[in-house]
Amino acid sequence: MSIRRLPEHLVNRIAAGEVVERPASALKEIVENALDAGASRISIRLANGGLDRIEVSDDGCGMAPGEIALALERHATSKLPDDAIENVSTLGFRGEALPSIASVAHLSIDSRPKNQDGWNRTIDNGVLLSEGPAALPPGTRVTIEQLFARVPARRKFLRSAKAEYAACLDIVRRLAMAHPSVAFTLEHDGRRAIGVQGGEAREDRVAALTDRALAENHVIVSLEREGVRLSGVASLPTYNRGVGDHQFLFVNGRPVRDRLLVGAVRGAYADMLARDRHPVVALFLDVPPLEVDVNVHPAKTEVRFRDPALIRGMIVSGLRRALDAEGFRSVQQADPAGLSAWKTEPISPTPISALPIFETAFASTSHLSAASLADRRPTFAAPPPQARAEPAAAPAPEGTSFPLGVARGQVARTYIVAEAEDGLVIVDQHAAHERLTLERMRRAMDGQGVSAQALLLPEVVELDEPACDRLEARIEELRDFGLELERFGPAAVLVRATPAMLGQGVVKGLVSDLADDLAAYDSALPLKERLDLVAATMACHGSVRAGRVLSVAEMNALLREMEVTPRSGQCNHGRPTWVKLGHGDIEKLFGRK
Ligand SMILES: Nc1ncnc2c1ncn2[C@@H]1O[C@H](COP(=O)(O)OP(=O)(O)OP(=O)(O)O)[C@@H](O)[C@H]1O
Ligand SMILES: [Mg+2]
Repeated sequence: MSIRRLPEHLVNRIAAGEVVERPASALKEIVENALDAGASRISIRLANGGLDRIEVSDDGCGMAPGEIALALERHATSKLPDDAIENVSTLGFRGEALPSIASVAHLSIDSRPKNQDGWNRTIDNGVLLSEGPAALPPGTRVTIEQLFARVPARRKFLRSAKAEYAACLDIVRRLAMAHPSVAFTLEHDGRRAIGVQGGEAREDRVAALTDRALAENHVIVSLEREGVRLSGVASLPTYNRGVGDHQFLFVNGRPVRDRLLVGAVRGAYADMLARDRHPVVALFLDVPPLEVDVNVHPAKTEVRFRDPALIRGMIVSGLRRALDAEGFRSVQQADPAGLSAWKTEPISPTPISALPIFETAFASTSHLSAASLADRRPTFAAPPPQARAEPAAAPAPEGTSFPLGVARGQVARTYIVAEAEDGLVIVDQHAAHERLTLERMRRAMDGQGVSAQALLLPEVVELDEPACDRLEARIEELRDFGLELERFGPAAVLVRATPAMLGQGVVKGLVSDLADDLAAYDSALPLKERLDLVAATMACHGSVRAGRVLSVAEMNALLREMEVTPRSGQCNHGRPTWVKLGHGDIEKLFGRK
């Protein structure tokens, strides 16, 4: 066996295997270079998902002819002037991207520093094709064509143009989010996909790149701890999605993918969202360079934190604080589009048919999923209307003392209709009650603990062995919640008492859900958040008021409790617990305005 030094072009191609996996990774390198060059405007054009062509123009510092040549050499970089790799503040630092791309594609670089002439250098799969003067405004234009055309082994692994385009879009979206001061455009096959102006506020930029409606449905996250700063934008729980693809994490301006984020976001929203719903979050961490290692992944999409627990804790607390500060705010206003739909609907013989229209109005404001609306609809459709109005003794509300108003009646044994000073309020009593139970449970946990009620007959719940192990390991904690259980053979637990505030008859579902929760979050969450999750799971099983007829006094008591209870604007699954139709909106419905 003889050992030899590999020739430069082979070294580059090997490096390309790590750095340039697909069009999106090449695009990422080029855009990051433009950002590092101080560009204020970056224009990207793609053809066929980037497979045929990627072109990036910037108005950054540009390169002189000699610098272009050097930039194409391996391990040549302007970004580590003093060898201090632990202190790197640019996106690039490895000096590998351009030579790697040049070794597996047709690459053309036009560049022009201010007050100098432009120059071009074109390389094809590692071989210099041409160089010479070029005409362009100050800045740089990089064109990559036919990526992997000569590397069949790689080309084979590329996906469809559609999939490659989706990956490119994701990369540009992330980089544009991290740099709101820079203007970005992205065109794909001649069609404009992204166009954002420079100098935007961060939350506006995030909304522009995800969904404009986020602008009215977000909270601002801001927290500082031990020299680490967390800032960003998180959606209200009522604004959620069926997939978790709109969760973004940035560390020192660098988009990173980190499993830590997924777990922490889950934990922070655990009691406010159903398990299959996902919030939108864009979180920006500013970490002292010595606290984070960015050199752990060839494409620089992962980082390693010196103290991951600190970071995870900050994300959970930062999100929770921001959401808590929202109090009982929820999505309450019917939007104008929905209202006009209501207005133009012909009057139908049964009042029931009008109701789905209100739901539509409401959904377009709240971004509820069709699924979550669907589970309420049968309540309306099935039985004949059960509206019941008792004369309410209380006078019309005055001032702002009762934001949720005075109860006027109950609809379908599920919805409380109340009159507030400024409009009509409809409350989902079941959802609201579930929320109140959770908050009561939290208060109890902060004080004496939750009181237990012994079962007349202890109940055996059969579960698989790991589930029993997990519950057994938490017996003490669960006892503080009023749930008393003990191990009962290898694959069962014996439940002796349940939390008094939940009522009876909840044993089996409750215990098996708790075991699931422990499986999902046990190791990922700090104790306090884990306890909170237990409380949420319990509250979910304790909503006794679904479908129950309430007296006016009970309804008013519920409204008053909601007003003083934090987070009562959404149920534990992220749906709103109440909506309000303002007087102005009602007048519009009747054409009075
Ligand atoms: N758009 C650009 N404008 C100005 N200079 C650029 C541009 N793109 C690249 N350069 C110069 O070329 C050098 C090499 O770029 P390359 O991307 O290969 O390496 P890097 O950015 O230094 O590190 P990394 O491999 O981590 O990206 C850069 O250090 C920079 O000086
Ligand atoms: Mg680079």
